[in-house]
Amino acid sequence: MQKSTPNKYGSVAVTIHWLTALLIVGLLISGNRLDGMTDSAAKAQLLMIHAPVGVLVGLLTVLRIFWWWRFDKKPEPAGTTPAWQERAAQGVHVLFYVVILGMAASGVGMMVLSGAGEIVFGGAPGSLPDFGGYAPRMPHGIGAKVMFALLIVHAGAALYHHFLLKDELLRRMWYR
Ligand code: HEM
Repeated sequence: MQKSTPNKYGSVAVTIHWLTALLIVGLLISGNRLDGMTDSAAKAQLLMIHAPVGVLVGLLTVLRIFWWWRFDKKPEPAGTTPAWQERAAQGVHVLFYVVILGMAASGVGMMVLSGAGEIVFGGAPGSLPDFGGYAPRMPHGIGAKVMFALLIVHAGAALYHHFLLKDELLRRMWYR
């Protein structure tokens, strides 16, 4: 079923969720490597993957927001936790959207402002610039830390529901 029901996520939401989760873990790992790299050619090669995947995650998030807005309705809260935890979960979800879109925008901003896009994708000669000299670098670094913290809280809560409360919360974010 493509659309969600009051107690189950639909296949479109499930696919966007797990695909995004997988890609974000890859972006956090590759981004962490990029940060410490000094070999310009190797860094350009990794950026050739990191940058388009980052853009893809941004686009998937726009698609996800559009999907919920126009086509689908979220399932009811699990009902196994107090109201403040449900509100906290909603807050974490909104923050995820904000941070993902901010990371994608600041990533594109770094590439455009520094001219690195030409070197990575356009085959232009020269070595990569120091991204630290461009304004979007700082929000990209802060966003990475916030994203990591959100992931811990979000995944921790899902595991708490699954193993301690033993409810259906994690199972309903999967295909039938
Ligand atoms: C959801 C999307 C994204 C995530 C989660 C992500 C994650 C990261 C992380 C964790 C870092 C290391 C930051 C640090 O240690 O301070 C990083 C660095 C970097 N990211 Fe992204 N990124 C995303 C999107 C993008 C996009 C779309 C681009 C380019 C179009 C991009 C370009 C870069 C560059 C150039 C660096 C290296 C900066 C440096 O070496 O100083 N990122 N990213």
